[in-house]
Amino acid sequence: VTERSFIAIKPDGVARNLVGEIIARFERKGFVLVGLKQIVPTADLAKSHYAEHAERPFFGGLVSFITSGPVVAMVWEGKGVIAAARALIGATNPLASAPGTIRGDLAIDVGRNIIHGSDSVDSAKREIALWFAETELLATATPN
Ligand code: CMP
Repeated sequence: VTERSFIAIKPDGVARNLVGEIIARFERKGFVLVGLKQIVPTADLAKSHYAEHAERPFFGGLVSFITSGPVVAMVWEGKGVIAAARALIGATNPLASAPGTIRGDLAIDVGRNIIHGSDSVDSAKREIALWFAETELLATATPN
């Protein structure tokens, strides 16, 4: 099934100049970029995005980190992209991420894991609507 997923390169990924590397991996896999912008998220946006973690001890640090600099927010489209993006990204803790995955190859720290990807159809819908206006997204993706 053709799906859309919300993918964000976090401030550490941007600061480490990994934007091109990460986008290239999604492009080479065959997914299509239908939305792209760079923003410094507000605390409100960050708190809404991570609402499910609100009670966790790391929530404050997570929000201050994600709002600390530019984030590259993207929407990628393609067959099974939600699960496939999670596979490309690797496990949340980069030390547990398989080599070959983005986090497995490029990160060490769970709090600095360089990229976020939606974990389900419902969160993809919610996160895309939170980060993007409909007018910022291509209506139809051009297949590649
Ligand atoms: P992400 O996929 O963006 O979703 C929630 C984020 O919380 C996760 O990636 C991590 O960056 C972060 N996170 C999860 N567990 C911890 C932790 N124990 N300490 C700090 N950050 C964490």
